[in-house]
Amino acid sequence: MRKGILSLTAATAALTLGLTACGGQSGDTTTTQNSGSASASASAPAAKAAKVGVILPDSKSSARWETADRKYLEEAFKAAGVESDIQNAQNDKNAFQTIADQMITNGANVLMIVNLDSGTGKAVIEKAKAQGVPVIDYDRLTLGGGAAFYVSFDNTKVGQLQGEGLVKCLTDKKASKPIIAELNGSPTDNNATLFKEGYDSVLKPKYDAGEYVKGPDQSVPDWDNTQAGTIFENMLSEQSKIAGVLAANDGLGNAAITVLKKNKLNGKVPVTGQDATVQGLQNILAGDQCMTVYKAIKQEADAAAKLAIAVAKGEKPTASGKVADPESKQDVPAELLTPQAIYFDNVKDVVADGYVTKEELCTGDFAKKCTEAGIQ
Ligand code: BGC
Repeated sequence: MRKGILSLTAATAALTLGLTACGGQSGDTTTTQNSGSASASASAPAAKAAKVGVILPDSKSSARWETADRKYLEEAFKAAGVESDIQNAQNDKNAFQTIADQMITNGANVLMIVNLDSGTGKAVIEKAKAQGVPVIDYDRLTLGGGAAFYVSFDNTKVGQLQGEGLVKCLTDKKASKPIIAELNGSPTDNNATLFKEGYDSVLKPKYDAGEYVKGPDQSVPDWDNTQAGTIFENMLSEQSKIAGVLAANDGLGNAAITVLKKNKLNGKVPVTGQDATVQGLQNILAGDQCMTVYKAIKQEADAAAKLAIAVAKGEKPTASGKVADPESKQDVPAELLTPQAIYFDNVKDVVADGYVTKEELCTGDFAKKCTEAGIQ
């Protein structure tokens, strides 16, 4: 059945491309169509205006999606004068499909998705492909999906920075044989797998050498912050001597910090994070969180928007790198950006980069801490 649809689409696409297909240079397509040459416009519908559809995953697993990604993507499309439709699936897998269908029906000629798991991503990529709409995996790779591009950060490096961060904070505290709890991201997010690979590459040698003691190690479904609190509460009641927490993002970190506070352990037990959210940075300023990982989302949004706009205009952009999809073993053209570790002393870098403002960060009691941290 799917084969039928595919070959039909292939035939339609061949027809649509008409003369240019014979020319061989796909880059000519838009020129020909825009020139309004009689033969092109007779056989092909007028070139569709570039329109990009973006599906964000949710607004609870991290503040980044609505506060940073949406804003930077909107700005990038606006600056290029390209129409965009940015929606949020609010962690609803059915809604994710419906939004994708609607975007295609409404004329999107490229989709950018942050999958809720590889299954949701794959379903959208297959449907879109069948209708000639390329898909860009934004931030999360869809395993076995075969997206046209993947734009993200070096996520193993993110995890490595977290592992090294925890080691640094434990060393500063002169911890001896600390018991480590690992609060991992969603088991269905390939990024969570990569983060864990990264931090375990730092922690495992410490466990093996007997320098650190491996404690509870659990994934948090859908990165759900509330569940993370419950999970960590159980970890701590079963193992009251937890001395370091590798939390995969700021939301999970904050969930752990809330539990540590109840037990008067905040500030004593270092906790990691990721995303440089206002909450995470404030936890660092307060001394309750050891570090976070800053990913300059503007760079990620700009890189993805650039590819999406080119694709939507019928151009054939290329990416600077590639990643191997571990499921399909196929290469996906990719842009991978570099993350940065943030501690008390360089929280100011995140402000200087314009990612968070002094006004939102240095509220109330944090004002004094901001001054101490050199935030201008
Ligand atoms: C992203 C993180 C984010 C997490 C939860 C991951 O895929 O890379 O930045 O914190 O999802 O939304």
